[in-house]
Amino acid sequence: MIKPPAKRRKRPEGAAPAETLLAWYDAHRRDLPWRAPPGRRADPYAVWLSEIMLQQTTVTTVKGYFQKFLARWPTVDALAEAPLEDVLAAWAGLGYYARARNLHACAGTVACEYGGRFPASEAELLDLPGVGPYTAAAVAAIAFDAPCAAIDGNVERVITRLYAIETPARQAKPLIRQKTEGLLPTARAGDFAQALMDLGATVCTPRGPLCGLCPWAGNCAARRAGAQEDYPVKEKKAEKPRRRGAIFVLRRGEETLLMRRPPKGLFGGMSAFPSTPLTRDVGPQEWLDFAPCPADWRALAEPVAHVFTHFALRATVFVAQTKAPLRLDSDCRWAARRNLGKEGLPTLMRKAAVAAGLLDD
Ligand code: ADE
Repeated sequence: MIKPPAKRRKRPEGAAPAETLLAWYDAHRRDLPWRAPPGRRADPYAVWLSEIMLQQTTVTTVKGYFQKFLARWPTVDALAEAPLEDVLAAWAGLGYYARARNLHACAGTVACEYGGRFPASEAELLDLPGVGPYTAAAVAAIAFDAPCAAIDGNVERVITRLYAIETPARQAKPLIRQKTEGLLPTARAGDFAQALMDLGATVCTPRGPLCGLCPWAGNCAARRAGAQEDYPVKEKKAEKPRRRGAIFVLRRGEETLLMRRPPKGLFGGMSAFPSTPLTRDVGPQEWLDFAPCPADWRALAEPVAHVFTHFALRATVFVAQTKAPLRLDSDCRWAARRNLGKEGLPTLMRKAAVAAGLLDD
């Protein structure tokens, strides 16, 4: 029996997504100094140099540095021969000097081991100093038109929106790669990589994406759901451990009792009201064990809350008045209420002072 020809499913948008994106790129590509004119291949040295500079720095800042470097060291051999100090000095202001050292080392490797010609394969590029997976793919695609997926944060955003990927981006990396690779065109891989970068930077922006201008608006699952800003899905931050405790505000006329915290640990060396230890959760039954002296302690109705780097604290504020002369520990002293604002109290203690009516908010 003769099989009928398999029906090709028509794409909803007609053209393949890569074609649509490339047509958009032809009309809207950014004019950047490291880009070759349309239809031409870029100089691998210029592509590599720009990609290293762009790793942690904005396009606007990189433009000037890129032009300065290229004018001074027009080839990878020239850069390799330059003294490292000159390269570091020219790099000043771009930050992350390890990148400049790697840049120089990489130029040396390309000059010595590859005769001044950048290798074309992603794998060989990946072996060069300072070249990670993103940069290797970007250089292979842009300089050599290799079908490689150069995936940075911008591209992750575009792809997670296009496919409404619900997994937070860190865990979704393999899926994002698979989806991006599935989109690669059979020709113009370099333009495709740069088109994705431009789309992420100018249209599919983190906030307020310009979906009305997006060539992929019709393909975009997040847009269909009206939820484009919900992607990439953020990882839920692990909740911080909660601790409870108490802070003791003891008043004697117009003075209040402060202590100096031990030099090491939380609030090290700072002035503070006496409190339960803040290094652990202390439940209500223990609170008054840590009061600085016996007194008619009254708890304020509303605890003060503060979030520290490693835990979240809710502390009940106890207040009491005393007239009796007290034997104080050597780290305690009476502080005038009018000077309390200048004691440099940690924020938690300021909150307690406000709650106890000793300081204005
Ligand atoms: N960001 C990283 N690489 C880029 C490139 N080649 N063009 C524009 N933005 C980029």
